[in-house]
Amino acid sequence: MGKILLLLENGLLAQLYKTNLSVYLESQVDLCSSFSQFLGMNKLMNDYSLIVTHKNFDGINVVSEILNLQNEKRLLVPSIIVGESNNQNENVHFLPEYLNIQQLLGLSAKIMNITAQMMASLNVPDYYPIDIEFIYYLKKAPTSLYLYVEPDYVMFATKDSLVEEVAQELKEEGVEKFYIKANERLEIVGLITRSLMDELSKTTYLNPVFKTEIITNGFDHFMNNYVSKEASQSIVKLASDCSKMMNEVVNESPDLQSLFLMFKNNKDNFLYIHTMLSSYVASHILRNLPWGNESHVDKIIYVLFFHDIYLAPIYNKYPHLQNEELLKNSMELTRQEKHTLNNHARFAAELVAGLKKTPIGCDQLIRQHHGVNTGIGFAIELKEDLSPLAKVIIISENFVEYFLSKRGKNVNQPFDLAEAVQSLNEKFTTNSYRKIIEPLITLNI
Ligand SMILES: [Fe+2]
Ligand SMILES: [Fe+2]
Repeated sequence: MGKILLLLENGLLAQLYKTNLSVYLESQVDLCSSFSQFLGMNKLMNDYSLIVTHKNFDGINVVSEILNLQNEKRLLVPSIIVGESNNQNENVHFLPEYLNIQQLLGLSAKIMNITAQMMASLNVPDYYPIDIEFIYYLKKAPTSLYLYVEPDYVMFATKDSLVEEVAQELKEEGVEKFYIKANERLEIVGLITRSLMDELSKTTYLNPVFKTEIITNGFDHFMNNYVSKEASQSIVKLASDCSKMMNEVVNESPDLQSLFLMFKNNKDNFLYIHTMLSSYVASHILRNLPWGNESHVDKIIYVLFFHDIYLAPIYNKYPHLQNEELLKNSMELTRQEKHTLNNHARFAAELVAGLKKTPIGCDQLIRQHHGVNTGIGFAIELKEDLSPLAKVIIISENFVEYFLSKRGKNVNQPFDLAEAVQSLNEKFTTNSYRKIIEPLITLNI
């Protein structure tokens, strides 16, 4: 049917898009891995019916480049720019989420005028080709796999047989495609997509900015699909992958300010920013407490991912009320929203308690993050009978609030760490909390 050109540098994401676009839209999908190569195509770029790219590709701000090419009438075909939520024009469309394949397919089909009827009426051949590389992501053959050996299709792997090595050999022999029965293709592509997504969330070679984008996308996706509807396992999985990636981003960041700026530039949203910064601060505290260890760090980051997730729709609705203090004192919230605010710790605790892979005790930590054992309301007085990890969360969030109250408005404002620690010591007067505050004095700001 149509021809699609992908301008993408990340191998895995490129493959994820390529498989889905080629199979679902029955299109020929070509890949271009540098912007200069793309520009070098000159008129040939207009041979495609659609260009799909990321907003940051090859170190270039693609949005303005594409708009220029369109304005100069050098690029005449429509494009989709992923990772950006600008206003679209007739020929340049934007998609904010990197991993929302469904949206990508829907928008591409619309742009290319492909309807469901057209898809159904296509003459699909008996066997369907897939790039041999994709076998690497399927440890076992999900179904019978075939090779085309003129004049026929020959089975080379039966369902469930191990295929990694065979694929390697075939590739070395120059085989580029394998085939599956055409009626199984959607199911197989679903499988490949899932394992690619898995792989993608494990990759450590992604740069921090890209990871940050995946995390914020994960947040959005999780909230839109979980809080409102029944969770599917894949969404739950995405949430826990995101919390793993948060761990990596936090570990790779040299100081609090860099992390802050990265998020501020990416998505100026209080919920993301305070979650990430609290993770950074809590990790530092735990690594500098005599009893803290790495499994505590993992646990606390998992907890922070979920702890305020029920407030997300409220923050989205009231962009001028970007912290819990403002929400608590606001007269604008509806009764239902006030109820959610009061119960957000309890709801989130119940949510994670129901997720299969939640580490033990995470629900209790979430429940206690406002200093109340029940997860309902906000503690007025300091409580001693909380889990020590819950106290780490409370101190971290308080520190971040202080940090944001200084730096949130003006990023260049000098920040006095000793003063911050002093102010926490005035608020938290008992020994158990002060011990947790102590390590903050060596935090990289
Ligand atoms: Fe919070
Ligand atoms: Fe909270």
